[in-house]
Amino acid sequence: MRATFKKGLGIILITGLLLTLFSAWRRGTSTAVDIWPTQGGHIKKLLEAKIEDTLNGYPDIAYHIKDDVACHLAQNACVCLADEETFHLPYSNLLFPHVWAHKIDLAFLGSHPDPEGVKRHRAQEYSSLQRRSYNPADALIVADANSPLQYPTQGVELRPLKTIIIPGLGLKEETGSDHVVYLTATLGTFNVAATVDKVSVKGEGEKHMMLSSPLLSSLNRQLQFVTYTNTVFHPKTADTVKFATEGHQSFFTIKIGHGPVPKLYNSGYQKEYNISALVTIATKTFLRYDKLKDLIDSIRQYYPTVTIVIADDNEHPQPVTGPHIDHYIMPFGKGWFAGRNLAVSQVTTKYVLWVDDDFIFTANTKVERMVDILEKTTLDLVAGAVREVTGYTATYRHTISVEEGGDEGDCIHIRNGYHHVIEGFPNCVVADAVINFFMGRTDKIQQVGFDPRLARRGHLEFFIDALGSLHIGSCSDVIVSHASKIKLPWSKTDSEKIYDKFRYSSSSADNRINQEIFYFKNRFKCMTSH
Ligand SMILES: *[C@@H]1O[C@H](CO)[C@@H](O)[C@H](O)[C@H]1NC(C)=O
Repeated sequence: MRATFKKGLGIILITGLLLTLFSAWRRGTSTAVDIWPTQGGHIKKLLEAKIEDTLNGYPDIAYHIKDDVACHLAQNACVCLADEETFHLPYSNLLFPHVWAHKIDLAFLGSHPDPEGVKRHRAQEYSSLQRRSYNPADALIVADANSPLQYPTQGVELRPLKTIIIPGLGLKEETGSDHVVYLTATLGTFNVAATVDKVSVKGEGEKHMMLSSPLLSSLNRQLQFVTYTNTVFHPKTADTVKFATEGHQSFFTIKIGHGPVPKLYNSGYQKEYNISALVTIATKTFLRYDKLKDLIDSIRQYYPTVTIVIADDNEHPQPVTGPHIDHYIMPFGKGWFAGRNLAVSQVTTKYVLWVDDDFIFTANTKVERMVDILEKTTLDLVAGAVREVTGYTATYRHTISVEEGGDEGDCIHIRNGYHHVIEGFPNCVVADAVINFFMGRTDKIQQVGFDPRLARRGHLEFFIDALGSLHIGSCSDVIVSHASKIKLPWSKTDSEKIYDKFRYSSSSADNRINQEIFYFKNRFKCMTSH
C-alpha cells in the first residue's frame, strides 16, 4: 500500500517536473523573465498592511517610554560625537584613550567639485544595491494568535524550478458544513500530489489554488499533499505564500535557491598538523629586499618547506629564489592592497598567513597554534601579536560597529578592545579588526579581498569590508618580531629613506581615495575612533 503510494507519488512528481520543464522551455521561447530587482508585489503589500495593523493595534491605550532603555534603540539617525576632553596630562591619551570624531561627508564633499552630483549618485547606487540584495525571507512575518491556520513559518526550501510538498499545512476550526482554504504564490504554482475523496481542488498548476470540503478531516488530509513548484528561475530568492480562509490570512516564505557548493581543500591525511600542506605564507615587498631575505631565512629555520608567496611591485625587481618560493612581479608602484590581493589570490592551501616583509619568525611564532584555533572554532581569521624592537608587544584589537544614519549615510564607530575571550583558548579573544599578522581561511579572505585602490595606506579598510562575513580572533601568545620600525632618521640606509618616502608621505590624492572609499563605497557620513 505504502510502496504503491510512494511509486504513484514519484510518477506524479516526475510528471510535474517534466511539465515544469516543458512550461519553462515554452516560457523561454515566448516570454522573458523579469530579473530586475524588485521588492515583492501584491503579496508584499498585503503583508505590509497586515504587519502595520498588527504593530499598531490598541492605539487608545496609553504608554510610557522608558528613556534609559529607549535611548539604545536604533533610530536611523546616528551622530558621531567625540569625547569631551576633561583633563590634559602628558600621556593621558595613552592611559585614557579619548574618542575622536571625524566628519567623512564634510571632508570628502567639501573639496569635491560636484558635491550634490556625487551625493545623488551614491544614493542611486545604494538603493539599487538594496533592491538587488532584498530577500523576501528576511521580511517579518507574524503568526496571528488563534488563527485556525496551521503552516510552516520557516525552513521550507527548494531548488530552482523544482517541486516540493509543503509540510505542515492544516486547518483547525469548528466543524461546519463547508471548509475552504486558499493558497497564493508569486514565483510558482500549486498542485496536489494525491487526491482525497470529498475534497474539491480548484486551480491545480496555478498560482492560486482553492481547496474545499464538507469534511474538515478530509480537507486536512488533502492539505498534506499540497505541492509547490517554482516556475521563475532565480539562483537565490524566496516566494512569500499566502494561506487563507475567508476570515483569516497567514503568510510564510519558501526559500528558493541552489545550495551552496562547498569549497574544500585536500590537505592530505595528517595525524598532527602538517603546516606545509595547510598553510601558505603571503607577503608584499617594496624596496626592502634585505628585510625580505631576513624574513625568509627566519621562516626557513622553523618551516623549511612551507610555500611563501611574494608580491613585488619594485621598479627594478631583484630575483628572490629558493625552494617553495613563488615570486610575483607586479607593475611598478601598484601598491599595498593590490599586492596583498595578488599574493592571496595565488594561495592554494586551506590557510594563508599574512606577514609584513619586515617581520622575523622566532621560536614564539607558533603557526600551529593559529591552525589549531581555526580548526577547532568557527573563526575565519586569527591574528597574533607583533613584538617591536623595544620589547613592546602589540595586538591591536578593535571593535567596529555601523549605525544607521538615514539619507546622509551611516556612522562607523571603531574602539580599542574586543568582544569576549574564547573558551578553551585563554589567550585569545574575538574582535572585529586585528593586527597585520594573521592567518585566515583562504577562500574567506579571497571573498572579502583587498581593495586595490588603497595603494599606500590601508588596514582597517579590509576589516570594514569583512564586517559581517568574517569571524575574527586574536591570540596574544603567537608572536612574530618586527625587524624595525622605530629607527632614528640619521641611522637609516638610503633604501629605507626611499621606502619611508613612499609609504608614509601619503599624497593628497591618496587621502582623497581613502575618503572616497569611506564616503562612497561604504556610504559612511562620519567616523568615531580612539
Ligand atoms: C606535509 O605536506 C607536504 C606538502 O603537501 C608533503 O610534501 C609532506 O610529505 C607532508 N609531510 C608529512 C609528514 O606528511
